[in-house]
Amino acid sequence: MGSTHKTIAVLPGDGIGPEVTRAAVHLLQDCAAAHGHTFEFRELPFGGSAIDAFGTPLPAPTLAECRKVDAILLGAIGGPKWDALSLANRPESGLLALRKELGLYINLRPIRLRHALQGISPLRPDRVAGCDFEIVRELAGDIYFGAHELHRDNGRSRARDVADYSSAEIERVARYAFERAASRQGRLTSVDKANVLATSALWREIVTGVAREYPAVTLEHLYVDNAAMQIVLRPKQFDVILTSNLFGDILSDEAAALAGSIGLIPSMSRGSGNGPALYEPIHGSAPTLAGKDVASPLGAIYSATLMLRESFGLSVEAQWIESAIDRVLDHGYRTMDIAEPGSRILRGSEFADQIRGEIHDALVHTERYGWGV
Ligand code: IPM
Ligand code: MG
Repeated sequence: MGSTHKTIAVLPGDGIGPEVTRAAVHLLQDCAAAHGHTFEFRELPFGGSAIDAFGTPLPAPTLAECRKVDAILLGAIGGPKWDALSLANRPESGLLALRKELGLYINLRPIRLRHALQGISPLRPDRVAGCDFEIVRELAGDIYFGAHELHRDNGRSRARDVADYSSAEIERVARYAFERAASRQGRLTSVDKANVLATSALWREIVTGVAREYPAVTLEHLYVDNAAMQIVLRPKQFDVILTSNLFGDILSDEAAALAGSIGLIPSMSRGSGNGPALYEPIHGSAPTLAGKDVASPLGAIYSATLMLRESFGLSVEAQWIESAIDRVLDHGYRTMDIAEPGSRILRGSEFADQIRGEIHDALVHTERYGWGV
């Protein structure tokens, strides 16, 4: 087993961000210690807390440091404290700027229902059991990055947001989604609104063209309204879903709810080439839960295991942590936000400690019996 040395930027952000990233960092530290790796963490200001301290959500030193590391772990940003700021000055603008600056145009959101958590899905078990698909959301274009204008005029105000896609922007993310589907079950669903939007008409044309290079992948197109319905009706039909920035933002929250809670779903944002990828739970900063140590750290912890797999090629280590989580869930331990009747409810930090206990037990076992990991 080779040892790996990696640098990781940690951007805790706002609300529950700091507490969930702390849990994920502890597990990464345990992982490094147990498997002989070295992970060097660099904590950096970002989001609303950076606005308070430095007057900007993405301070220049944070961006400069993020460019240098091997991977980035982000908590969550935003909150009511900064809601009154103009769009261009809010914490969210820092996240969009970070994605843009680092060229992160691919956003991968795995939707996997953990067996032990079937009971908290709003869908009946027969509909949702075994549900396992991935959403590939385009992350650097669309209505998010076009002009946003708000003209105020005494009762006759107007606003406009421009959606913009080039064929090259669509093609590069489509190629990634085809590769991803080819490595899974070979089914790709592209989601658009090509019956109304020009950006979607171009999207469909380009995706159909790229499909010719991947004859082993079956491509299907769905309109976004139908896709939203199909995700609820028959989620098991999906393997990989490819969609634009705005539609992906919306559909991934819907899909996360099926897997039990938005608090469980990780994400990876990356570009092409060797630049660092960014890992973050897809949940927000949950201001009402912040500081109470009640939120589930699982979204952040699964983001850390996604980092181990995707950026560091350490899939055995990722599996080792994920099996420990499954065992903790099987024992009935939950945080309040993912509890069921009869659950043994723990604080977020206690829940993370249970997982740390489980991975250590697994290690002792491994050493005693010589099961190779
Ligand atoms: C997400 C979030 C962000 C987005 C916000 C915070 C800008 O909702 O990552 O899904 O819309 O991309
Ligand atoms: Mg979102």
